Amino acid sequence: MKDLRDYVKYLSSRHRLLEINEEVDPDLEISAFTDVAARESVYESKTLLFNNVKGYSIPVVTNLFGSMSSVKELFSNSYASELLGSLGSLKSKGKISLVKGSKMFLDSKPKLVESQLGRYRRLNGLDELPITRSWPKDGGKFITWPLVITESPKDGSTNVGVYRMQVYDSLTTGMHWQAQKGGAIHAKEAEEAGKILNVSVSIGTDPHNMVAAVAPLPVGFSEFAFSGIVRSSPTVLMKNGKYPSVPANSEIIINGYVDPKEKRKEGPYGDHTGYYSFVDPYPVLHVDAIYAKKDPILPASLVGQPWHEDAVLGQFLSDFLMPVIKATNESIVDIYLPPEGIFTNMCFVSMKKRFPGEAKKVMFSILGLGQLSFTKIIAVFDDDIDIRDVRKVLWALATRVEPQRDVQIITNAPADSLDPTSSLPAFGSKMLIDATKKTREEGYNREWPETLSMPKDLVEEVERKWRRLKS
Ligand SMILES: Cc1cc2nc3c(=O)[nH]c(=O)nc-3n(C[C@H](O)[C@H](O)[C@H](O)COP(=O)(O)O)c2cc1C
Repeated sequence: MKDLRDYVKYLSSRHRLLEINEEVDPDLEISAFTDVAARESVYESKTLLFNNVKGYSIPVVTNLFGSMSSVKELFSNSYASELLGSLGSLKSKGKISLVKGSKMFLDSKPKLVESQLGRYRRLNGLDELPITRSWPKDGGKFITWPLVITESPKDGSTNVGVYRMQVYDSLTTGMHWQAQKGGAIHAKEAEEAGKILNVSVSIGTDPHNMVAAVAPLPVGFSEFAFSGIVRSSPTVLMKNGKYPSVPANSEIIINGYVDPKEKRKEGPYGDHTGYYSFVDPYPVLHVDAIYAKKDPILPASLVGQPWHEDAVLGQFLSDFLMPVIKATNESIVDIYLPPEGIFTNMCFVSMKKRFPGEAKKVMFSILGLGQLSFTKIIAVFDDDIDIRDVRKVLWALATRVEPQRDVQIITNAPADSLDPTSSLPAFGSKMLIDATKKTREEGYNREWPETLSMPKDLVEEVERKWRRLKS
């Protein structure tokens, strides 16, 4: 898919697009429509294209990734999934083709072309764009699908992240990068060097770039290389003067700068926790120039109490990248971040315990891993528990946890700044729940009772009879 418009056409061909031609208000109404669309089944939820936005000639598209089918299809032909899926066997059997793997990495390098800004028209301010307001008590309009691109003042590496941007006036926005995210780390480096940080923002590009910007990749691993890998063709970036290079297929480009010393109140904003976020100080983006394609589409996202498109993306990406975590911790069988746990607040793990205390080792390793370090509550189960089945999870929590022995609280730890429960922003506690069956070596002085089950062949026979009796 060469750009956003191409993706929208693709969705239409799959009957996953609803075009709305009657007039809609970017102030709440577009979001209210999107909220209704998100209530549909997670596989069928439709993308909405608003062609007639009150007061604007630019269409708005929402719920681009609300359908799990679409997101899975975007990644289906990718060698990256084959590679990730083979990580386990790579260690033991070396099944993966290393030639293919090295070619993939070489091919993934973004291709840099000359600036094509001449094809764009220059806008005077952000008020020329149909930027939406999501929830009634939001502090204003927010750009909700910006790919914020920064370069490390230290080593020049590029970071791309989606960080919402509150519109303060037509040339000033907030920059809501959380302290642990790539953009914030670059701003910190700029502060240490006594410099401002030039920022470019791409709004609306091909879907692989958009999904890559959300992926929790390690700092230093290029999101545009990742999108090249999953797209199976390199990302094309265009030079952008003193600002970081941007995808050459961007619908809208904003160039500006962040002065790391400057902070301004940001929010409230109806967030993916299901609550309004706190009003906290965040950096400010000063806009130097805005460019738009001749006929751009503006993508917007609505988040709220799960499920919305961020939940679909989060669920997909955590499953897609899980082999990396499993490869570093071979006793892990499955990891599940339930969207209802807001991804960062709850994590279930199943494992094959091999030595006393290994469940704790697994929990500690999760707390040390990238964005998983935000996790507030981790529960570890034996591998007979399907951690994606909430009934099994509750049963194991109720029957395998002795609170005094199996629950630990870790205090004064980094936390997700969006968590409304922490007393201080981005700083809080963790709960570790060991819901594995305890062994004698772990101080359990009784014989763990056997789990009830019928002989397998008897079950199969009775099921056959059952089907006959029912038919
Ligand atoms: C629609 C949407 C909005 C998001 N808004 C923010 C945000 O305002 N601040 C933030 O830190 N992360 C936000 N995220 C999550 C980041 O994009 C995600 O953590 C990403 O991995 C960050 O990239 P980085 O690791 O390169 O910083 C958002 C994700 C989505 C899908």
